[in-house]
Amino acid sequence: MTLLGIETSCDETSAAVIREGAVLSNVISSQLVHARFGGVVPELASRAHQRLVTEVVGEALRRSGVAARDLDAVAGTYGPGLAGALLVGLSFAKGFARGLRKPFVGVNHIEGHLYSNLLMEPQPEYPFLGLIVSGGHTMIVLVDGPFRHRVLGQTRDDAAGEAFDKVAKMLFLGYPGGPAIDRLARAGNPRAVAFPRAFLGEGSFDFSFSGVKTAVLYHLRDRGVHAGGTLRLADNEVSDLCASFQAAVVDVLVEKTLSAAHRYGVRDITVAGGVSANSSLRAGLSDRAAKAGKRVFFPPLEYCMDNGAMIALVGSMRLRAGSGPGFDVNAEANLSL
Ligand code: KG4
Ligand code: ZN
Repeated sequence: MTLLGIETSCDETSAAVIREGAVLSNVISSQLVHARFGGVVPELASRAHQRLVTEVVGEALRRSGVAARDLDAVAGTYGPGLAGALLVGLSFAKGFARGLRKPFVGVNHIEGHLYSNLLMEPQPEYPFLGLIVSGGHTMIVLVDGPFRHRVLGQTRDDAAGEAFDKVAKMLFLGYPGGPAIDRLARAGNPRAVAFPRAFLGEGSFDFSFSGVKTAVLYHLRDRGVHAGGTLRLADNEVSDLCASFQAAVVDVLVEKTLSAAHRYGVRDITVAGGVSANSSLRAGLSDRAAKAGKRVFFPPLEYCMDNGAMIALVGSMRLRAGSGPGFDVNAEANLSL
């Protein structure tokens, strides 16, 4: 089965072609227009998708060497995400499929992240535990088989990536903030500042990151360094702050993921979403998993971030299962897993 997958739920315009689960092309155009606003501006995202989608899809087909008429189906993200951004990609994907007289299959973006590790060899084996950590989501999901998944816990406030982005904004590190904090934290001391870890009670797999984010804000205020829109901190203090904040987030992610794997007797753990690029999360989880006799899977960067390949993959799984939404599906900004 050869599929084109189109993803436009947030600020990445992406298209990919896969054949029998192998990625032939995966083109991702990250919108830089949002950087100066410190976050994604929905209207600008929609307009950028509109400007880019034709070219990105054309490039994905070109790089794959597959002619449009040889596609078996087109898959497109229909939610969750920014309504206007979703509409651009979804309408394009449906129109493209209609023009080719091929089936269209709608894909849930979170399922894309959840199954993205199946794009790689070796593959995790069912049942596996999925940790999804992105700018919009933080959740632990038990996956018994294709589309047989159950959310064990999720964030009650900020997503992990959102917390990274907000703390980065306080430190004037630009957007997206995760990569900058990750980089600076390498030179810092993770024990320099004792930020709170929210475990939310014994046995809970829910998360809360607004507390640690506010703790960083208060820390900056208490030191009188955040007044007047400027930051007067030495480089090593910024690094220590980044390392300490990152450690607080990563400790909770690692602890809860391992404890869920134990509780449900699962050997394989997959991680996906933009924050899975975080070096401390990768090191911490790999280390703890190895000691516990578990296997942990991180997708390469191009499958961590929002991408068309994971959408095409889930589209193909949906078609195989005969259970995917078709042409009549609408954009659903608040779609859940
Ligand atoms: O999955 P993604 O590309 O988009 C969403 O669906 O949200 O994730 C983007 C998020 C942003 O919040 C970004 O700051 C975060 O992933 N991120 C990171 C790192 N790289 C990206 N967070 C921590 N460390 C990183 N290295
Ligand atoms: Zn995402």
